[in-house]
Amino acid sequence: MKDAHSFARRGIMELPAYTPGKPIEEVQREFGLTSVIKLASNENPLKVSPLALAAMHQELENCFLYPESSSPCVRTALAQRLSCGADNIVVANGGDQVISLICQAFLDEGDEAVVGDPSFGIYNQNILIMGARIVRVPLVNLTFDLDAILRAVTEKTKLIFFCNPNNPTSTIVPKDEVARFMARVPERCVVVFDEAYFEYADDPAYGDGMEYVRAERNVVVLRTFSKAYGLAGCRIGYAVAPGHLTQALLRVMPAFPVNRVAQAGAVAALGDTAFVEASKKLNAEGRTYLVNALGEMDMPCPQSHSNFVFTDTRMDAKLVYNELLKRGVIVRPGMQWGFPTSLRVSVGTMDENRAFIATMKEIKG
Ligand SMILES: Cc1ncc(COP(=O)(O)O)c(C=O)c1O
Repeated sequence: MKDAHSFARRGIMELPAYTPGKPIEEVQREFGLTSVIKLASNENPLKVSPLALAAMHQELENCFLYPESSSPCVRTALAQRLSCGADNIVVANGGDQVISLICQAFLDEGDEAVVGDPSFGIYNQNILIMGARIVRVPLVNLTFDLDAILRAVTEKTKLIFFCNPNNPTSTIVPKDEVARFMARVPERCVVVFDEAYFEYADDPAYGDGMEYVRAERNVVVLRTFSKAYGLAGCRIGYAVAPGHLTQALLRVMPAFPVNRVAQAGAVAALGDTAFVEASKKLNAEGRTYLVNALGEMDMPCPQSHSNFVFTDTRMDAKLVYNELLKRGVIVRPGMQWGFPTSLRVSVGTMDENRAFIATMKEIKG
């Protein structure tokens, strides 16, 4: 009998498959529901910016032409926003592709890549695809432990994935701790600052990775248009890094990674300050409401610095997840991250947040 194992590259068939949040359509079909709320993939509850929507409609008629390969319009707009050179920016098919490019560009077989545990699962899959080794460093109080990460660094360490704010726990590391870490990390390691949730981290203690890009340190900052810019379905994200690193990332880039509609949408979304501000405001209100309401139900959450909360249900999370699904609410259960009683819940509109809390109360009884 034919078997994928005899064809696939060594180790590929042992890779863990990524489980994304369940799509609304699938839950509607499975449970015969018409109204379903998805709080599972940290998308923007305000949907698409009106300016981005108009720009994307307009761009549709040009879709018979290939897009510009390096997304120059997006890089120019970003360079102005971030006060860096357009050459410091690599635009890709979502932050997911940025992670894949980083692993392809920097990891050889047998190298080590350090990740927080738990953190964003896509790192692990890409590290393993390159034949490198994952070194997991447990979080402490649901937060990255940068001292432990430094202790885990060996001669073989090439990459350190630092997710700040961290997915799934929503916590940040304060900037003075990040500075101490950056002062000690060996030059041979590339530190990836995954800042997919950067726009929501409004705590004054938060410090992003851009200062290290400007200082030409060996860092790659990852950001995305999927969250505060409301373009998750368009698949567009970017890396910001010193030129000596972007040069390597560009070598492994496919020919046309980002389609025309996504490029037009991203430029317009960047210019729609009112939409981004409204998204941040709604999110700040929603996450405070959720953390407080869950706290009152004996379901503690760490303070959230992102657009989701991570809560301990003190029950079997799989059971709670299934009960929520039956009632038309999709969230993410914590088993996949080694937290069998926790849930990760995206911040929705205030109506969605209230509906989730009401359903949760029903389940808790
Ligand atoms: C921490 C983190 N990094 C990167 C990504 C990738 O985002 P995208 O591929 O939608 O740009 C996500 C998506 O949820 C994320 O949570």
